[in-house]
Amino acid sequence: MPKKSKPLPIYVLNGPNLNLLGSREPEVYGSTTLPEIGKQVAARARQHGLTVEFRQSNHEGDLVDWIQECRTKGCGLILNAGALTHTSVALYDACRALSHPIIEVHLSNPYAREPFRHRSFISKAANGVICGLGATGYTVAVDALAALLKE
Ligand code: DQA
Repeated sequence: MPKKSKPLPIYVLNGPNLNLLGSREPEVYGSTTLPEIGKQVAARARQHGLTVEFRQSNHEGDLVDWIQECRTKGCGLILNAGALTHTSVALYDACRALSHPIIEVHLSNPYAREPFRHRSFISKAANGVICGLGATGYTVAVDALAALLKE
């Protein structure tokens, strides 16, 4: 009997300073830690029959490498690029080269904050953007990605 191939995971990638969630400006980003968000995302993905590759890096190149990896090893991307959202053409290009659906997530609502946070390079390559919902935004993003993957 031919072996059934495992479905590819969704990649959930987190950029600079998101490792500090829980202690970093909790009045802006909430008190949920990144490992807690990871567990919530995995549980929600399971409900959709999906698995998750959940990672964080403070380094732009790591994120570029992981988005490239997602081209062949993943089926979709949820990306909170942190401050790199507002500056990184490299992440924009990496996202453009990905043919899977992309949901951009932010815990805070960047549009209600400083003007330099109003520009997102990721949005131009994303299917959708979820912001301002705190940690809940990640599970909403899983639902959105699952719906896009079903299309
Ligand atoms: C963030 C918003 C960014 O402007 C900021 O630089 C972050 C976190 C968010 O999740 O709200 O690091 O992406």
